[in-house]
Amino acid sequence: INHLTPKTRREILELLVNGLKRLEYRGYDSAGVAIDAADQKDIAVVKKSGKVAALEELLQEQSGDLAVDDSVESHCGIAHTRWATHGEPSAINSHPQRSGEDNSFVVIHNGIITNYKEVKTFLENKGYIFESQTDTEAIAKLVDHIYAQHKDYSFQELVEQVIQQLEGAFALCFKSRFFPNECVATRRGSPLLVGIKTRRRLSSDHVPIMYTNNKATRGVVPSVPRVNSHAHFEPEEERDVEYFFASDASAVIEHTNKVLYFEDDDVAHIKDGVLSIHRMSGSSTDPHQREIFTLKLELQQIMKGNYDYFMQKEIFEQSESIVNTMRGRLNFANGTVTLGGIKDYIPEIKRCRRLMLIGCGTSYHSAVATRQLLEELTELPVMVELASDFLDRNTPVFRDDVCFFISQSGETADTLMALRYCKRHGALIVGITNTVGSSICRESHCGVHINAGPEIGVASTKAYTSQFVSLVMFALVISEDRISLQKRRADIIEGLHELDVKIRQVLALDDKVKALAEDLYQQRSLLIMGRGYNFSTCLEGALKVKELTYMHSEGIMAGELKHGPLALIDDSMPVMMIVMRDPVYVKCMNALQQVNARQGRPIVVCEEGDTETMSLASRVLEVPKTVDCLQGVLTVIPMQLLAYHIAVLRGCNVDCPRNLAKSVTVE
Ligand code: G6P
Repeated sequence: INHLTPKTRREILELLVNGLKRLEYRGYDSAGVAIDAADQKDIAVVKKSGKVAALEELLQEQSGDLAVDDSVESHCGIAHTRWATHGEPSAINSHPQRSGEDNSFVVIHNGIITNYKEVKTFLENKGYIFESQTDTEAIAKLVDHIYAQHKDYSFQELVEQVIQQLEGAFALCFKSRFFPNECVATRRGSPLLVGIKTRRRLSSDHVPIMYTNNKATRGVVPSVPRVNSHAHFEPEEERDVEYFFASDASAVIEHTNKVLYFEDDDVAHIKDGVLSIHRMSGSSTDPHQREIFTLKLELQQIMKGNYDYFMQKEIFEQSESIVNTMRGRLNFANGTVTLGGIKDYIPEIKRCRRLMLIGCGTSYHSAVATRQLLEELTELPVMVELASDFLDRNTPVFRDDVCFFISQSGETADTLMALRYCKRHGALIVGITNTVGSSICRESHCGVHINAGPEIGVASTKAYTSQFVSLVMFALVISEDRISLQKRRADIIEGLHELDVKIRQVLALDDKVKALAEDLYQQRSLLIMGRGYNFSTCLEGALKVKELTYMHSEGIMAGELKHGPLALIDDSMPVMMIVMRDPVYVKCMNALQQVNARQGRPIVVCEEGDTETMSLASRVLEVPKTVDCLQGVLTVIPMQLLAYHIAVLRGCNVDCPRNLAKSVTVE
């Protein structure tokens, strides 16, 4: 929403579409926009199933109808890219959803409204006719219904009324033809921020909160106290500002690095160049303001550069991203590790009953990868849990548990729900995330930012290796004063010191991995086997293959081979095995022999120069040796590259695999 330089409608559309492209990794089933129509009295809505590029094309075709007249200024537009939950991907189910044919109210939504059926039935009884299968449409119609009863309400008051009726998770952005040039946005459970762009420096880095004591004050005092009376922006600058509501910073960073993150149930209203944040009747202990953060994110970090795909770029960034994870934390000279975000909680953590590591997808795998080391260095029981299953089981949690929530996005609904569950049970909550300002960050008692930089490819790569390294550093911190572990700690620290160089050596295998992909890409299945420290590489490798190539793939614990998977082995089943010279080497070699005995033709990932292991392999990828507990950082990279190359050869969309989304903010 723009009050800086007057913009034409064409410029607003361009800006919206570009923002959608930056957010496309969050969902890409369909997309849509709404902007003021040329006469400023109506709202034009354009929607299209498929990727943002399809919407862009449609907008170009329709530019005549839309009267994208360069002389008409516009102030406000909303746009959305969808990952379908309710209703198949189609133009009618895409957002914005509308109140009725006259587009009186339009809304875009991330999340799920769990009580939408009740709301819908209520509205149908009032005569509303629904056109889509979405839960979101009920919101657009509900706001219209409330408006019909209360024409005196401000836009923000209407939205306050609406969200009181909603259950579930949402980030919403509303526009209305009754409130031209205004925009209202709110959230509960799904992320939402506003980017603020001004010509001059902001006069304050805080925005005060207006607590509306709903019924009592309505009609008695003006319902929307003006925020500039609190000197948020100097009055003469009041209109000199542009706002960008978005679900994450990558959509706004090319415009501004000043960002404010909303809390659940904040209702943000932009009118006449002024941002105000409203909440229903707060208590005296509630905060009075929200902070505006200055992000360090650079546009370049969310661009592909010379790479064909974000995922490819992110794989190749890993030699640097893990260094960023360790920067300022690991002192290689004196062997000390400091994690500022959890420093004050170390005594409490050391006294705990057990550690629980909870996450989904790749983040869960990073917990599997580091569990053994955590057990060894902390001497505590360590539980590793998938967030969804953990909740399904109503797992017992105690006040003296320490629960880690691992999440690249910091927004995964399953993980966030598990966090809240553990918090209710009184456990200490530690967040391990890659996204500053995310829900998991904010709701944790303490935590570690993995600092891998923005990850755009839907399939996670560099976040995994940085989560891995972060958890290793945590284990080092906890074991700092254990005399008996000093040698082990020193070896690990040395291993971390050399890790970037070794990652570069692994990345140099790219051509070899590509050649392997050429042999494998027409197969229907790929088994990946290993155990001990490298079992997580099997799970993560198989996940990458599934996500990106739609080929069946399974990570198999080599110890389980004889309990079932061996039946799959013959001379045609592609099978990869990770065999490192670590404490389970002999057992891995047994498995390798068993595969050979069944005419299997294993592709082996082993240590450089390990001729004994290589003699049992049909093909080999040699990776440099590092400390056993860090080896998984190196063995996972050929798997990432392999999945990437197979996906390219199979003509799959590497960055946006079908049916998936990067940040799954619904349970
Ligand atoms: C989604 C993504 C996965 C990711 C998982 C957890 O399923 O497609 O790539 O591993 O969510 O995401 P998080 O942001 O919590 O790490």
